This record gives sequence, structure tokens and C-alpha cells, in this order.
Amino acid sequence: MNAGRGWVEGKVAVVTGAGSGIGRAAARLLAAEGATVYLTDIDGKAAEATAEAIGGSARAMAQDARDEAAWEAVMARVLAEQGRLDVLANCAGIQLTRGLLETSLDDFRHVFGVNVESVFLGTRAAVKAMLPQKTGSIVNIASNFANIADGLNTAYCASKAAVAHFTRAAALDCAQRGTRIRVNSIHPGCIDTPMLEREIVDVAAKRGDADTSAVRAEWQTLAPLGIGAAEDIGWAVVYLASDRSPYTTGSEMVIDGGHIVR
Ligand SMILES: NC(=O)c1ccc[n+]([C@@H]2O[C@H](COP(=O)([O-])OP(=O)(O)OC[C@H]3O[C@@H](n4cnc5c(N)ncnc54)[C@H](O)[C@@H]3O)[C@@H](O)[C@H]2O)c1
Repeated sequence: MNAGRGWVEGKVAVVTGAGSGIGRAAARLLAAEGATVYLTDIDGKAAEATAEAIGGSARAMAQDARDEAAWEAVMARVLAEQGRLDVLANCAGIQLTRGLLETSLDDFRHVFGVNVESVFLGTRAAVKAMLPQKTGSIVNIASNFANIADGLNTAYCASKAAVAHFTRAAALDCAQRGTRIRVNSIHPGCIDTPMLEREIVDVAAKRGDADTSAVRAEWQTLAPLGIGAAEDIGWAVVYLASDRSPYTTGSEMVIDGGHIVR
């Protein structure tokens, strides 16, 4: 434990999708709590802007999280510069607001590529990097759409359920190898990020409404606590990344303002 110090003091972390929304908040809070953070994003400029805003030891890398070779490059740099990896937060993701009949096979594969293959590649690369020390924490951002279904998000729902179950299997694998490498998923509800904003615009357009305020007002009421902030998820990443959660693995942390329990 690091009582009195940052929650992740001295840890080395990689955060994907760190140029926006939840990844950005997670990277900022991990850095504020003492970690050296590598921020990656397919939008390299956005990752750089976040790293600059964080300052200190934050470093940015352009990375397509679907690309196996890119994962090798990220891990090679982290291990060369820091000698270890303690935390991976897989925050990169996309949403596609499309019902079953509107979803093409290419759409489906695209969503699975970004949301699922990236998590598989990242988790595997991180576990390899963590094996020498036999400890570490991997946090995969799923969604409450892994637990509840939405007809307008067929591929997305399936991809997030895949992330959740992959997380459980990976957690078991790490434990069965005799390591304390922990793998957990977080299941956010409606969180105020550019992704949510795009979805609100999409849904309003599908209703033939140019004004998005009605959809936003409706979504405010989905959960008893309304729409959440990216930091609400970022703090959960910090907790799961820290030594305060040593017995938590294969778990899913639902953070949705009470949405799915109503
Ligand atoms: N915002 C919500 O309400 C909500 C709810 C549940 C789950 N989530 C999940 O949280 C995660 C983050 O979402 P957000 O709301 O912050 O979205 P966001 O769009 O604000 O940020 C996502 C980031 O991922 C990056 N990205 C996209 N494709 C990538 C790729 N192939 N490789 C690397 N980076 C890539 C984007 O450039 C962007 O910076 C996603 O997995 C999303 O599915 C979000």
C-alpha cells in the first residue's frame, strides 16, 4: 500500500483511447495519482494534446489498437523506457447506432475489430509484459450494454458482452498461471463524452429531429442519477489499477447511476 501517497504512485500505465472522453479522464487521474502514463489513440494529435495538458511524465503515442504490430511497438517502448508495465486500461472503442437490418457484415466486423480485437491484443500484450513481475492490472471498458440489450445497437451490444466474458476468461488464465495479474471490466452507463454526444445526434436524426435537446433530456432520466461524467469512470480505473483492489479479478464494475437496477 502507498498510504498517504497517490493511489498508483510509481506505477507504469498504458491507456488506449486516451485522446478523448473516458480514456482521457482515466489517463489524467492515473497521472494525478502518481502513475507514469503512456497515452495512446488512433488520433495521435488528440493523445498528444491530452499528454500535454497532463504534463509531467505523460507520454503520447499514435496507435491503432486493432493493430498487432502497434501493440508490440507500444510495449517495446514502455519496457525499454520503464523496465515494467503495471497497468493497461483499454478505453478505445466505437459505437454504431444501428439496428439489426441496418448493420452490414462490414459494420459488424468493424465494431468487433475496434471494441473486441483491440482488447484481446492489448490484454495479451500486457500480460506478456507483466509476466516477469507476476503482478499487474488490466481494466477493460465494456458497457452496461453488455448486460442489457438495445435494439439500436446490435453490434455494439454484442461486442461489449464479448469484452465482459473475455475479461473473465483472461482473469482465470492469469490466476491459473500462478500470477496476481488481475483483469476486470467496467460497465459504464450514459457518460458525457464526445461518443455520447454523437449518439444523441444520431438518435435525434433517426427520429427526424434536428434538435437534440429532447433526446438528451430523455437520457437524463434513464438513470436515477442522470448522465455521468468521464471522471466517474476514471476513478474506477484508478481503483482497479491500484493496490487497493488486490483481490478483485474477473469482476465487472457497473457504474451507471443506477440505470440497470431500476
Ligand atoms: N460514453 C458512454 O456513454 C459510454 C458508455 C458505455 C461504454 N463506453 C465505452 O467507453 C469507452 C470510451 O468511450 P468514450 O465515451 O470515451 O468515447 P470517445 O469517442 O470520446 O473516445 C474514444 C477514443 O477512442 C479512440 N479510438 C477509436 N478507435 C480507435 C482505434 N482503433 N485505436 C485506438 N483508439 C481508437 C478515439 O479516437 C477516441 O479518442 C469505449 O469503449 C465506449 O464503448 C462509453
